[in-house]
Amino acid sequence: MSLSVVILAAGKGTRMRSSLPKVLHPIADRPMVSHVIDSARKLNAENIYVVYGFGGDVLKEALIKENNGDDLTFVEQIEQLGTGHAVDMASPFVKDGEDVLVLYGDVPLTKVSTLERLLTVKPDNGMGLLTVNLADPKGYGRIVRDSSNTVIGIIEQKDANEEQLKIKECNTGILLAKGVDLKRWLANLSNDNAQGEYYLTDIIAACHSEDKIIATAHPDSEIEVEGANNRVQLAGLERAFQLRKAEELMIAGATLRDPARIDIRGELTVGEEVVIDVNCIFEGKVALANNVIVGANCILKNCSIGDNSVIKSNSIIEEADIANQCSVGPFARIRPGTTMLTNSHVGNFVEMKKTTMGEGAKAGHLSYLGDSEIGSKVNIGAGTITCNYDGVNKSKTIIGDGAFIGSNSSLVAPVTIGKMATIGAGSVIAKNVGDDELAVARGKQRNIANWQRPVKNKST
Ligand code: UD1
Ligand code: CA
Repeated sequence: MSLSVVILAAGKGTRMRSSLPKVLHPIADRPMVSHVIDSARKLNAENIYVVYGFGGDVLKEALIKENNGDDLTFVEQIEQLGTGHAVDMASPFVKDGEDVLVLYGDVPLTKVSTLERLLTVKPDNGMGLLTVNLADPKGYGRIVRDSSNTVIGIIEQKDANEEQLKIKECNTGILLAKGVDLKRWLANLSNDNAQGEYYLTDIIAACHSEDKIIATAHPDSEIEVEGANNRVQLAGLERAFQLRKAEELMIAGATLRDPARIDIRGELTVGEEVVIDVNCIFEGKVALANNVIVGANCILKNCSIGDNSVIKSNSIIEEADIANQCSVGPFARIRPGTTMLTNSHVGNFVEMKKTTMGEGAKAGHLSYLGDSEIGSKVNIGAGTITCNYDGVNKSKTIIGDGAFIGSNSSLVAPVTIGKMATIGAGSVIAKNVGDDELAVARGKQRNIANWQRPVKNKST
C-alpha cells in the first residue's frame, strides 16, 4: 500500500511571539517541521503535503532549502477553519487507493517506530489512530469507547460533558486512513460545535458509523506527541530531543560525563571508547573514531577526529580533518580547510585556517597558521604568525619537513621555508629560506651600560 503524509503547519503560533512561522522554530538547529518531514521520508512516503497558512513564502523557502524539497507539495490553507478543513486542503491531491497519515508540523519528536506501529495496526476496512493516556488530559480531545471497548468517536474538551472529561485516553491528532475514505469523511464535516471549526476528529465517528474499525496504537512516551506552542515548551522538546540523542550515543558505546550537558545539532557518529566531557556542542556531521576524548566546552562542526586523538577543553573545530594520535587545545581554534596529519599537535591559543599540519608537527602555543603547508616534524615556536594577507590577496606559507620556527617569528607569505631550516626567534621572514639554512631577521641587540631610566618630574 502506498503512503502519503499530510503535515499540518498552518498555525500562526501567536504564543511564540515571533515573526517566524511556528513550525520553523528549531529543534537541534533545524525547523521543527523538518524533523516531521524526516520521519515521513523514513516511512517512504510517496508524497508529503505541507499545509501552510501564515508566512507561506518564508516557510516554503526555508523548507526547500533545508530539505531539498522535491517530494514536498505545499498546500495553502487561507483561513484556519479547523484541523479537518486543513487536511481537506490536500484532498485534491490524495489518491483513493493510498493510505494517508496526518502529522503535525509542531510535534517533532514522534518516533518512526511509533508511526510504523500505527501503520501496522490499521485494518483494511478502517483507520488507525494514535492515542495516549494522560494523567492530565486537559485540553485534549478524548477517545470515546463503547461498552465493548470499541472506539466510536472523539470528543473535544470544549464539547465534552462531565463524564467524557474524566476520560484519560486522549487524541494525539496523528491518524491514518485510506485516501478514498478520508476524502469522503472530510467532505461531510460540519462546523456545528463549540469552536465553530471543522474538526478532523469527527472522522472517527464517521468511520464508526460506516461499521469500519478504528484501531489504536500508542507512543512509547508522552513527549513523542507533545507540540510546542511557546518557547518554554520548545525548550522542553529540545532537552528531550538532546537526551534521546545522548542515550543513542551511550548505547553506541560512548561515555558522556553528563548526558544532560551535551548538544547534538546534526549527526554525530562515535567509535569505541569515546569519552565526551560536559558542555560540548556538535554541529553538522561529526565523526569521532575509536578512543577519542573530547574535553569540556568544545564545539565541533563538520569534522572528523581520528583514533586516539584528544581534543582538550575549550577548543573549536570547524570543517577540518584531524587524523589519529593528534592533540588539539586546550583553547585551540581549528578553522575550515585544516588537516592535521597523524601525531600532530596544536596547543593553547593556536588558530589554524586552510592549513595542513604534517605528521608529528607541533605548534604548542599562541600562533596563527593560515594558508600554510607545514611538513612533517616541523616545530612551530610560540607566537609564530603566518602573515597570509596583504590587504588584498591571500598567500601561502610552505614549511619543509623538520624545519624549526623560532618563537615570535612572522612568516610573510608567499614564502617557503626549506626542509630542516631554522628560523631565529623574533625574525620577520619575507624571503624564502633554503633547506638546512639558518635565517635570522631581526634588529641586532645593543646593550647600553648604566642606563638611566626616566624619572618623574616632582615640581609639576
Ligand atoms: C487537536 C485535536 C485534539 C487533540 C489535539 C492534540 C482537533 C479538532 N482536535 O486539538 O483532539 O487532542 O489536537 O494536540 O483536531 N491547524 C491548521 N489549520 C487549522 C487548524 C489547526 O493547520 O485550521 C494545525 C495547527 O497549526 C496545529 C494543529 O493543526 O499544529 C492542531 O490544531 P489545534 O488548533 O492546536 O488543535 P487542538 O485544539 O490542540
Ligand atoms: Ca494543539
